[in-house]
Amino acid sequence: MSTRRVQDAIRDDQKIQNELKRNGNIPTHIAVIMDGNGRWAKKRKLPRIAGHNEGVESVRDTVESCGQLGVKYLTLYAFSTENWKRPKEEVSMLMRLLMRALRDETDRLHKNNVRVHAIGDISSLPQEVQDELLDAIEKTKHNTGLNLLLALSYSGRWDITDAVRRLISNVQQGTVKTENINDHLISEYLSTKNVPDPDLLIRTSGEFRISNFLLWQLAYSEIYISDLFWPDFRRNELYKAIAEYQKRERRFGMVSEQVQTQKSKASYVG
Ligand code: FPP
Repeated sequence: MSTRRVQDAIRDDQKIQNELKRNGNIPTHIAVIMDGNGRWAKKRKLPRIAGHNEGVESVRDTVESCGQLGVKYLTLYAFSTENWKRPKEEVSMLMRLLMRALRDETDRLHKNNVRVHAIGDISSLPQEVQDELLDAIEKTKHNTGLNLLLALSYSGRWDITDAVRRLISNVQQGTVKTENINDHLISEYLSTKNVPDPDLLIRTSGEFRISNFLLWQLAYSEIYISDLFWPDFRRNELYKAIAEYQKRERRFGMVSEQVQTQKSKASYVG
């Protein structure tokens, strides 16, 4: 691309970002089910790993644009508990890809003020992946921009089961009273402790499923289904998802009039 074209593209991108920011309702937390890598590759008669490789490019562009927009949390479903059941060769290729991506991307993430976190059964990952992950977490721990949560060997049921186990243990030890258990307390036992629930869930490849992702945390998230396969998902599709989110009315079980009253009270106080 010529320098002129690059400059035009950057200007257009900033224009869209500014417009989304002006709307004043950038989601605080976006969660993404990155789906369709295999189908993307199949369509091109390429091995599945080619789809995963290209998917890393989409991760890079999504992370960068979320950071620029001021999104505070981005959770990516990178490897589910169920993904362990895939053919051994695909699992080991995915693990190698993750390791390489973490190794190659950590400096850029750090430069962009991104803080890396991991959720899931991290101890089940190969040691080399765990090491790269811990390095990335450690190196970026003082960053104050986007919080990037990588869901690895993660599933919503695993998360809830793990929380229940620790909660029961604390009840038995007497540090938690059964009558004090409420949804706020349960949230504190989940891997997303201190992270606000996702405002927006994006799923790619046109599938309408939650696939055992953040089952508890997605209770009131708005859902955007993109028809694109994950390797084709780039910032322009992210902008579409956010623009669509900005048009939705989130009622959290209330009626529209109550939501409007709350909004006008909040703007009066603010
Ligand atoms: C789903 O596509 C995708 C995955 C199981 C892996 C996603 C992982 C990456 C894009 C790499 C992530 C890297 C970082 C650094 C977070 P699929 O294989 O299920 O596609 P299909 O449904 O078409 O078969």
